Amino acid sequence: MTAQDGARRAVRSFVRREGRLTRAQARALEGLWPRYGLRPEALQDLEQAFGRPGPVTLEIGFGSGDALVALARRHPERRYLGIEVYRPGIGRVLQRLAAEGIENVRLLEGDATELLPWLPAGVLDEILIFFPDPWPKKRHHKRRLIQPAFVAELVRVLRPGGRLHLATDWEDYALHMLEVLERAEGLENLAGPGCFATRPASRPETRFERRGRARGHRVWDLRYGRVEARRPQPQPPM
Ligand SMILES: C[S@@+](CC[C@H](N)C(=O)[O-])C[C@H]1O[C@@H](n2cnc3c(N)ncnc32)[C@H](O)[C@@H]1O
Repeated sequence: MTAQDGARRAVRSFVRREGRLTRAQARALEGLWPRYGLRPEALQDLEQAFGRPGPVTLEIGFGSGDALVALARRHPERRYLGIEVYRPGIGRVLQRLAAEGIENVRLLEGDATELLPWLPAGVLDEILIFFPDPWPKKRHHKRRLIQPAFVAELVRVLRPGGRLHLATDWEDYALHMLEVLERAEGLENLAGPGCFATRPASRPETRFERRGRARGHRVWDLRYGRVEARRPQPQPPM
């Protein structure tokens, strides 16, 4: 997938909601973006974008940033990139980062399908996608973020040995994720083929997880490692 292909993509995995941008969030977006925000081009050189070394974790669709902020606080030695389209969420995270003096996070505003192609291959150590919009109606399934072409792009930007971690509280989406990920070239299920993972204690609880549990939903974790793509096996002589 190229940057142009991403830009042409008509089916979006999100609905733009601007509604409830508070004054403090608007102030944060204006005042703090220069400190934490990146333009897509900056993804071509992460060393310069962060100005510090360390393994890089990308969270796609961080929402209000519950996981992103908790992880960045817990691991100052790592670097965290967050991609989100929801501006009130971005504003909220900017406020939290500044209030806590967290410096190992950089944010991008936009559609992950359009931003990922800016990243060089193999530069990420970890990708997190927690509680992506489930699009439960069958006619909306095509809007789900986890699709074969998108997963191929995730595989491209992960380094060999890197990790992919997803979680959802929708059983039908969990099964869809499992099916797509099991078929993806270059990924190995860390829980064993066809299996969901045990919830790692390291995954911070997010707003959407709390909401799902309050509604009585179960939660499914999926964890994969980036492996070299299978090479075609030599055919035995006839
Ligand atoms: C259901 S919310 C979950 C938020 C957060 N991960 C949590 O667990 O609280 C899904 C988020 O993904 C974002 N999102 C959906 N599609 C996206 C895309 N293509 N690129 C970036 N963000 C996206 C939405 O704006 C929304 O904030």
